Amino acid sequence: MRVGILTSGGDCQALNATMRGLAKTLYQQKKDIEIIGFLDGYKGLMYENYRIMKPEDFEDILNLGGTILGTSRCPFKKMRVIENGFDKVAAMKKTYQKLKLDCLAILGGNGSLKTANLLSQEGLNVIGLPKTIDNDTWGTDYTFGFQSAIDIATRYLDEIQTTAASHSRVFVVEIMGHKVGHICLSAGIAAGADIILLPEIPYDIEVVAGEIEKKVKAGKKHIVIACAEGAISKEESLLSKKQYKLKVATREGHSVVYEIANKLSHYIDKEIRVSCAGHAQRGGQPCAYDREISTLFGIEGAKLIMNKDFGKLVVFVNHRLDAIPLEETAGKLKYVDVQGDTVKNAKLMGISFGDEMT
Ligand code: F6P
Repeated sequence: MRVGILTSGGDCQALNATMRGLAKTLYQQKKDIEIIGFLDGYKGLMYENYRIMKPEDFEDILNLGGTILGTSRCPFKKMRVIENGFDKVAAMKKTYQKLKLDCLAILGGNGSLKTANLLSQEGLNVIGLPKTIDNDTWGTDYTFGFQSAIDIATRYLDEIQTTAASHSRVFVVEIMGHKVGHICLSAGIAAGADIILLPEIPYDIEVVAGEIEKKVKAGKKHIVIACAEGAISKEESLLSKKQYKLKVATREGHSVVYEIANKLSHYIDKEIRVSCAGHAQRGGQPCAYDREISTLFGIEGAKLIMNKDFGKLVVFVNHRLDAIPLEETAGKLKYVDVQGDTVKNAKLMGISFGDEMT
């Protein structure tokens, strides 16, 4: 049996751990297994850039961050698959057929899983494994990489807390997460942020400023705002998609935190600083939880392959691993549940989300 494997999209800490779980299970259970690793994501499949893997390639990589195969952003924007006469899907199908693959395992986030679904609909045997620090893949409670990113973002905020305290400053700290606020919400609570700004809860700058003043009056000398990179104001939430994109593209440093800090400076009389946790949130070793869950994700992926149960994405729902059709998840995002207990309870203890006075 010949299985292709690739990692696509932004990397995360547990890609190698997942591939190891999948490969070790296949080598263990099937004597005739051959694994082909495509380099740099879908590009490797498109341009026939691959390595024939050996069992030892998957040794000693459980706690290794990044991806031994390399990755790249998904090649399709709005499903525009033919560029300058080059048919990307046809090229990928050709490689798949030429190498006589029985299946392709794709480790990717939302964009990559959309492409995985497209390839599946084109008749390739595909399985998906949900990778992203953002935890925004629809249909699964967990995507591997998420907890490692939370841990790093939390430590980053911890460090900001001490310098903010020494100088009695307000800090606006950017946390990754693309269009959703899962990392920011978890790390913000874990690091004791005073204010958490999420894309799912448009903020009102006057409310944010009012909350800072209230907390300062109550004795707080420094304020830490955990701000998701996709956080939006009430005004921005009313813009069309096109207007919003233009606004984001022309922001200072393309980051919302500078804008928020600047707006706040007109309302509050305290020193304000910004800081970005950045790509470190995707880097380094996976945490223990990600090593464990990724290994289990990988094993579950291998089971789908051995059972020839293709066109599926491995998911983790209610603490159980399962699989759902790729077409169910393709193109959908999982947002923070703003009516859920986490947000509601955080508000009860005085964490502000910038939408209403606490
Ligand atoms: O999807 C993971 C992620 O780290 C997002 O949180 C972030 O918006 C994006 O990738 C950054 O992408 P890039 O590495 O291409 O700048």
